[in-house]
Amino acid sequence: MGAVRTTLSPILAATGLFLASCAPPAAAPSTIEPSVNREIVGQVVRTTAGLVVSQNEIASRVGARLLEDGGNAVDAAIATGLALAVVHPTAGNIGGGGFMVIRFPDGTATTFDFREKAPLASHSEMFVDENGEYSRDVQARSHIAVGVPGTVAGFALAHERHGQAEWAGLVEPAVGLAEEGFVLTESLATSFANQIEGQMQRYPASLEKFSNNGVPYQPGDLWVQPDLARTLERIMLEGRDGFYTGETARLIAEEMRRGGGLITEADLVRYQSVEREPIRGTFNGYDIISMPPPSSGGIALVEMLNILEGFDLAPMGQESAEYIHHVTEAQRLAYRDRAHYVADTDFVDVPIERLMSKEYAAELRATIDPLRAGVSKVGNITMPYESMETTHYSVVDQNGMAVSVTYTLESGYGSKITVPGAGFLLNNEMGDFNPWPGLTSESGQIGTEPNLARPEQRMLSSMTPTILARDGELAAVIGSPGGRTIINTVLHLTLNLAEFGMTMEEANAATRTHHQWLPDEINIEEFLDDPSVVAELEAMGHTVDVGGDQGQAQTIGVDPATGEQVGVPDSRSSDAGAAAAASERGASSIRS
Ligand code: DON
Repeated sequence: MGAVRTTLSPILAATGLFLASCAPPAAAPSTIEPSVNREIVGQVVRTTAGLVVSQNEIASRVGARLLEDGGNAVDAAIATGLALAVVHPTAGNIGGGGFMVIRFPDGTATTFDFREKAPLASHSEMFVDENGEYSRDVQARSHIAVGVPGTVAGFALAHERHGQAEWAGLVEPAVGLAEEGFVLTESLATSFANQIEGQMQRYPASLEKFSNNGVPYQPGDLWVQPDLARTLERIMLEGRDGFYTGETARLIAEEMRRGGGLITEADLVRYQSVEREPIRGTFNGYDIISMPPPSSGGIALVEMLNILEGFDLAPMGQESAEYIHHVTEAQRLAYRDRAHYVADTDFVDVPIERLMSKEYAAELRATIDPLRAGVSKVGNITMPYESMETTHYSVVDQNGMAVSVTYTLESGYGSKITVPGAGFLLNNEMGDFNPWPGLTSESGQIGTEPNLARPEQRMLSSMTPTILARDGELAAVIGSPGGRTIINTVLHLTLNLAEFGMTMEEANAATRTHHQWLPDEINIEEFLDDPSVVAELEAMGHTVDVGGDQGQAQTIGVDPATGEQVGVPDSRSSDAGAAAAASERGASSIRS
């Protein structure tokens, strides 16, 4: 139910959370010269007390408060994730899934996989319309598109194994934000207005949630979500059971039955998050710690870095045609392997060791012509469209424990289906499975076996939450939304830090490029300085598209000179913010 409220709870007012949404930036924008051409407009926060950087400043402040109150980075990450489910409904969620990578201060690391699963009734030919024909609408824009959500199970498991604060304290700020409301920014209000004109028209509970009695919300309106507050309260009191059993589970299953979806109470109660060994690689003295399958991110990232390690990249220059060519060729090769081999390893064998070996990288490197574009063929397979709406956030605590989380509903606002009475959106993650066995076409999709839908299999993901270390010390926490571009955004961040020696601010601001094997085209961000680079790339045989921006990387670096943690929100995102825990040193610029 969306009602405009004009009063503010003393609880939220006291925490400063309400004010965060309209506070002016505390730090002046800075400009970095000359290695990058893009103004750094996000608010950079330096501290030694621990901090959170997320796509929404209110959520970052929730996480920072947990750190102040004695929580560790895992606690803060969970509290931030739950707050994002309230204040960043585009992608923040309890009805979706994702991945968490943790590096402990002693250098050990682990990951939590809370990717959605296919319901028990799934099969490889399930995405059909009433005529029995494969339908992208069914796969991505229907109740069938909804995977069994994983976020609450993942957060609960990570908390049980590595948290140190009380669970209820992690959920309570999110309950408060839903119950008492927060002020809508211009970007959120505009986004809601667009949504209620589109697919949400089919779902009354979504229209009710995202409109003000059928009328678009305005910037400055207070947005309250009472149904979501009740659901979060159940999660606060009962942990994962508050979501996967009882009232919440009943409401989800009821909506599935109503809309022809497959998820039942049995699917929900069976859902388990899994703690998995991280993917590990090395590049130029840096250790790479990233996400294993069902994410393809870690494997592809390490494969690309292994290929590129054999080239002398830094002298080429970060925006030169020569550099973009070499990076593109590594991307082409790794994305081909991703499409051919990578899927949920609980169901299929993936040759991970070979894909990530330095020997295999050397073989691939030898196929790259330094002057000519390679060729992407294999049946002209192209990839289905993926939206740019996921969210990444990074957390470091005062002891140097680091957490990198990327989670998603898949599309912006996921399936657009709000669970009536429960107040949260469901994902449309089933769209990440291959659509149909053997379906490969010039304009179509990949039909390879490994990533076809099977009961309880997790769909392949590109999300790449990653942590970098050097000489045994934490160096950076990185990740991004952006569908298949995610892996390449993380690749560029890593290269910018580890090859070009940029600061985190510079690395985050620098121009990014994307090639995903097919379609055979390089996308370069609009910030590219020198148009002659495009002509040079075209002369090498590349097809180049310049425009738009790539990803929204909410990052933390550690300044090697001072040991300070440097929170760098991506200036490509409008509502992002870094928030530090207050310390005796008065580290937080947001709090000043
Ligand atoms: O898991 C994946 O790779 C996709 N479902 C992520 C979607 C995404 O990143 C959309 N937005 N940024």
